[in-house]
Amino acid sequence: MRRKHSDYMHWSKTQSRARFNLATSGVASFPFRELPVDLREIEINGDNSYGYAPLQEAIAVHHGVDPDCVIESAGTSMANHLAMAAIIETGDEILIEHPAYGPILDIAYYLGANVKRFRRAEENGWAIDPADVRRCVRPKTRLIVITNLHNPTSVLTPDSVLREIGDIARSVGALVLVDEVYLDAVYQNTPRTSFHLGPEFVVTSSLTKVYGVSGLRCGWILAQPDLAWKMRRLNDLYSATPVHPGELLSVAVFHNLDLLRERARRIVEADRKLLCDFLKQQSSLSAVSTEWGTTSFPRIPNGNADAFLDHLRSEFDTSAVPGRFFEMPDHFRIGMGVNTEMFAEGLSRIGRALVDK
Ligand SMILES: Cc1ncc(COP(=O)(O)O)c(C=O)c1O
Repeated sequence: MRRKHSDYMHWSKTQSRARFNLATSGVASFPFRELPVDLREIEINGDNSYGYAPLQEAIAVHHGVDPDCVIESAGTSMANHLAMAAIIETGDEILIEHPAYGPILDIAYYLGANVKRFRRAEENGWAIDPADVRRCVRPKTRLIVITNLHNPTSVLTPDSVLREIGDIARSVGALVLVDEVYLDAVYQNTPRTSFHLGPEFVVTSSLTKVYGVSGLRCGWILAQPDLAWKMRRLNDLYSATPVHPGELLSVAVFHNLDLLRERARRIVEADRKLLCDFLKQQSSLSAVSTEWGTTSFPRIPNGNADAFLDHLRSEFDTSAVPGRFFEMPDHFRIGMGVNTEMFAEGLSRIGRALVDK
């Protein structure tokens, strides 16, 4: 039986909430009233058979790519699904990082891929080791999949490593899928999309995580024009056309991107400072820290994160994401960028829960 669901998504939709919710990965919602948009310009229907040209143009300008390489999708979720479904055939070998964001694996299994893994080692700061990727790649490999920033750790993979991965992929005729949904949460010297690194790169992203407008479901894929066209045709099987008012609002967001990003940045940076101080004081937790991103992935040495998180929820009304959803059951994921007061209190409650663990 093929896997036809995502345990992580289900947990996230039904069980992740608590009064002190640190189980997030995206920033606070951007208030609609603060978006400079004239509602009289919003229309219900529009010319968007294979994408709405002004939105494709805005995405293309954002990344410095040709609009022919842009495919609209419903969030990064659908972008990942479409990209993988267009690239691989049932039984094809696909190499995915470990630990991985659960739904990426779920999609691969749903598509009937032969899933292989390469490891990001915690002792190596969760970095990708190209030598390890090279060892795992085989002539049959069709696709290598990574997230950058990495979910759950927020570790950034530099272009030098991405280039090596591109070379490895090219040597066996494979492509590299890079999910960049968190990349714009590198607030200083934001890297350019890896799409520029070579024709073997396919990129997915969206406005959902870093800009606080998840409800618009504005996502996209960057792919070479022939593959892009294949993805648009495949999307005909899933959704006839995108929601046009959402496209119009997304164009308005692109026109005001810095406003949304800066608003979130202040919260993320304040939260990160609190988290750094907190982790310094916690001898019973260890975490690779980063200067960017919206998530951190502490380990409870000799601990069972599930039992700890159950206790944290029942006694302290605080939630975080169990590491088992990233195949790392002794870890848990903390999310920043929603509300600094709530975050501070959530951390304090984690600290108290660790004491009576
Ligand atoms: C790595 C990664 N990709 C994709 C998604 C889904 O993003 P979206 O809300 O844009 O569908 C998430 C959400 O948490 C994610 O962490």
